[in-house]
Amino acid sequence: MSTLLDLHGKHVLLGLTGGIACYKAADLTRELVKAGASVQVVMTESACRFITPVTMQALTGHPVYTDPWDARAGHNMAHIDLPRAADAILVAPASADFIARLAQGRADDLLALLCLARPQSHVDATRRVPLLLAPAMNREMWSHPATQRNVAQAAADGAIVLGPACGEQACGEVGEGRMLEADELRDELIAFFQPKLLAGRRVLVSAGPTFEPIDPVRGITNHSSGKMGFAIARAAQEAGADVTLVAGPVQLATPRHVRRIDVTSAQQMHDAVLPEAPAHDVFVATAAVADWRPARADGRKIKKDGSRKVPALELVENPDILATVARLPAGQRPWCVGFAAESHDLVKHARDKLVRKSVPLIVGNVGPATFGRDDNALVLVDAAGERELAPGPKLALARQLVREIAERIPAKR
Ligand code: C5P
Repeated sequence: MSTLLDLHGKHVLLGLTGGIACYKAADLTRELVKAGASVQVVMTESACRFITPVTMQALTGHPVYTDPWDARAGHNMAHIDLPRAADAILVAPASADFIARLAQGRADDLLALLCLARPQSHVDATRRVPLLLAPAMNREMWSHPATQRNVAQAAADGAIVLGPACGEQACGEVGEGRMLEADELRDELIAFFQPKLLAGRRVLVSAGPTFEPIDPVRGITNHSSGKMGFAIARAAQEAGADVTLVAGPVQLATPRHVRRIDVTSAQQMHDAVLPEAPAHDVFVATAAVADWRPARADGRKIKKDGSRKVPALELVENPDILATVARLPAGQRPWCVGFAAESHDLVKHARDKLVRKSVPLIVGNVGPATFGRDDNALVLVDAAGERELAPGPKLALARQLVREIAERIPAKR
C-alpha cells in the first residue's frame, strides 16, 4: 500500500556497508524511489564487493560516492555536503564493523566520516539529520557482547536501530541478524517521517467483520475487509502510539509494531476489547460487528432432508461493544470513536449514533462504496458539526483521522 508517494520531497542518503544483505539494497532503493524519495548512495569499499556502484547509480539516477577524496563535491568536502543535503541517512546494511566504527566515532571512510559530520545540532533541532541503521550480520556476530555494546552506544548517541529480524541467514544458520526486507525498511522510513501526534498514547482499534456460527460450516457475517481499521492502526502507530488491534476474520498483514488479537464472533470481540479498554487512551471501533447471532450454534451441519422445510433461525442480540466501552466509568473509559457504514442518509444516521452510543466522534462512510476497496471518503460528525474528508486512499484518510483525533483528545495528565 505505498502508491501514496509517502516519501515525496524527501532526500535520503542511503549508505551501504559490507554484507550479503547488500543484495536487498537494490530493491530498497527502488521502493524508496517509487515512494517518491530522491536517493543518494554512499558505499564502503567492502559494500562494493557485494554490489556495484553501477547498479546503485542506475537505480537512483545519481553517481555513487565511495571515497572521502572524491573531488566532485563543491568544496571537495563530500562528508560535509552530502549529509547536509539529506533529510535522513539510512545505512542498510549496517555491518558489525561499521557499527563498531560508528560507536567509536571513527572517520576512516566516507560513510563513517559523514555520519560523524552530520548535523546533530543541539542548538537547532530543525537542522538535525537523523541516522537510521539496519543491522545485518550472522547471528553470533549480532549477539556478541561487543556488537551489543556498540549498538547500544550508537543508539545512545542518537542512531535509530531498525531490526534486525530473525530467520534464515545466508551463512545457513538461523537466528537474529537478518536485515529487514526492503518493504519493511521503506515503511519504517515512512513512519519515521510522520508527525508524532500520538506519542505516549495507547490506541485500541477494532477491525474487520465478525462471524456468527449457525453450524460448523455456515454463519452470519457482514461485509468488511478490515482495510480501514488496519490503516487506522498503522497510522496511529506511525504517529507514535502504542497500538492494540482486535481483528475479526480478515486476510490482512498486521501493521508493523502493532499488537494484534484475532477473534471470530462479536462476543469474542467484546471479551477481547473490554479488558483492554481501560488501559487505552483512545478506542476506534471500525469493526462491522454482526448485530445478531443464532441463539444456538448447531454442533453438526444442518442437513437438507428433502422435505423442503426451511430451518427456523432464532436470533439473539450481540453486545454493543462500542456503547459498552463508552459507558465505562471515567478514568477507565478511553476517548471513543465510532464508525457508521450506511447506504443512505449518512449524516443523519451518524448523528443518531453519536447520541445513542454517547461517543464524542462518529466517522461516517458509505458502506457499499467502500467495502473491500483501497479508497474511501469519510465524514466526521461530532457535537460541533460535520467535516468531510475528501475521497482518497484509506491510509491517507486514516492519517487525517489520526490528526483529528489528536486535536480532540484531552491533554495527557
Ligand atoms: O450500531 P451500529 O452498528 O449502527 O454502530 C456502528 C458502530 O458501533 C461501529 O463503530 C461499530 O464498530 C460499533 N459496534 C460495536 N458493537 C456492535 C455493533 C456496532 O462496537 N455490536
